[in-house]
Amino acid sequence: MEQYVIKGGNPLRGEVTIGGAKNAALAILAAAVMTDETVIVRNVPYVNDTIVLVDAIRDIGAIVENIDNHTLKINGSTISRLSVDYDYIKKIRASYYLLGALLGKYHKAEVAQPGGCDIGTRPIDLHIKGFHALGADVDTSYGLISASADSLEGAHIYLDKVSVGATINILLAATLADGKTVIDNAAKEPHVVDVANFLNSMGAEIRGAGTESIRVTGVKKLHGTDYSVIPDQIEAGTFMFAAAATGGDVLVKNVIPKHLEATTTKLLETGCQVIEYNDAVRVASNGHLKATQVTTLPYPGFPTDMQPQMTVVLGIADGLSTVTESIWENRFRYVDELKRMGADIRVESNVAIISGVNHYTGTRVQAPDLRAGAALVIAGLAADGITVVDDIYYIQRGYEAFSEKLRGLGAEIEKVSDEKAMRKFILKVG
Ligand code: EPZ
Repeated sequence: MEQYVIKGGNPLRGEVTIGGAKNAALAILAAAVMTDETVIVRNVPYVNDTIVLVDAIRDIGAIVENIDNHTLKINGSTISRLSVDYDYIKKIRASYYLLGALLGKYHKAEVAQPGGCDIGTRPIDLHIKGFHALGADVDTSYGLISASADSLEGAHIYLDKVSVGATINILLAATLADGKTVIDNAAKEPHVVDVANFLNSMGAEIRGAGTESIRVTGVKKLHGTDYSVIPDQIEAGTFMFAAAATGGDVLVKNVIPKHLEATTTKLLETGCQVIEYNDAVRVASNGHLKATQVTTLPYPGFPTDMQPQMTVVLGIADGLSTVTESIWENRFRYVDELKRMGADIRVESNVAIISGVNHYTGTRVQAPDLRAGAALVIAGLAADGITVVDDIYYIQRGYEAFSEKLRGLGAEIEKVSDEKAMRKFILKVG
């Protein structure tokens, strides 16, 4: 099992380049099999989640060629199975985007039922409601979601809750349905817009992505395309918070600053300086952070995927902060680990009440999920002494070359796989 070992205390300084958005790439890779023509997808982050999804896509018979680590050539004309195994779903829930993609293209698809996970119960009722509305029969017995339809008909679908996954899955199926579909109370996240742009580049007719009402005019078939995934706003935000927590000065390159507005606003409230450029943001902190209040909300609100990183920053800010989690019911599991690093945080229901402390102290902690894992690394970078973060496979699901990028900013961090390598690093950094 690999771990990160960190010697904290270095303010991060320099430039870091952000990769493609994991959560956009996952949906786009699944959508790529909806045509029989060849699709090229660029700027795909080389992280465990995309690697597993590509395996799932190959497993149903599509051809996926790695032109390089970030560029994939996909051809869905050879698909021979319309069923996605539990092996993939249990590793990466987003494999369920193949349900919408295959249902749209072949009017039949089956995926294993995803269970709950490390951040919440994660229901999929809205996905199913959408497929039903398009005329599909959906059966959920024997641990499978089996959807089939003689024909898919456009429909007016209202999502009772804003859901990224349901919006995208319904969008995929509706793209190849007969007639018009309207998805109301749709998710407005940048990755939803990216998926719609990708589908439009394949000949789909989708309007209104990025607003709460997406309108789709079904087309008979899609064609090949060559498309580049947008930058990852969560990876970008993670480095912005790392700069803030360490009193650093970092230029975060290859971003769309508009997508980072909620993060930028909160960093300004903590007293950091944030300068926006066309495709970069610079975050500088003099080490004196101020308390503030944050509530996670669907885009354009403050992203839940940035909540743990924000909490880590507020944990060492002057005064009393609150962080309210309104999307996932189980996303404060890292707080106990952060308390072991000296944080003074009380969680009441879905609110973390944070009394800022002067500094964290290094110890051995466990990453409970992807974003919380990244947040614990940030805490380690800001802490006095040595921090060891265990279970970093969570972090590797969504951050490419995380330790390498941090080292490029002056962090003392090493990925190790045994105690000997850990001791060697600790000896080296003193
Ligand atoms: C996506 O998950 C992201 N994952 C998550 O990021 C992110 O936290 C989440 O959106 C919210 O922004 C991917 O894109 C692969 P939702 P998703 O459907 O689509 C409820 C990360 O760290 N809901 O928008 O599964 C649900 O319980 C991951 O990269 C229903 O009630 O999230 C939640 O409260 C973690 N019924 C809310 O909606 C449904 O059918 C939002 O969930 C579906 C969702």
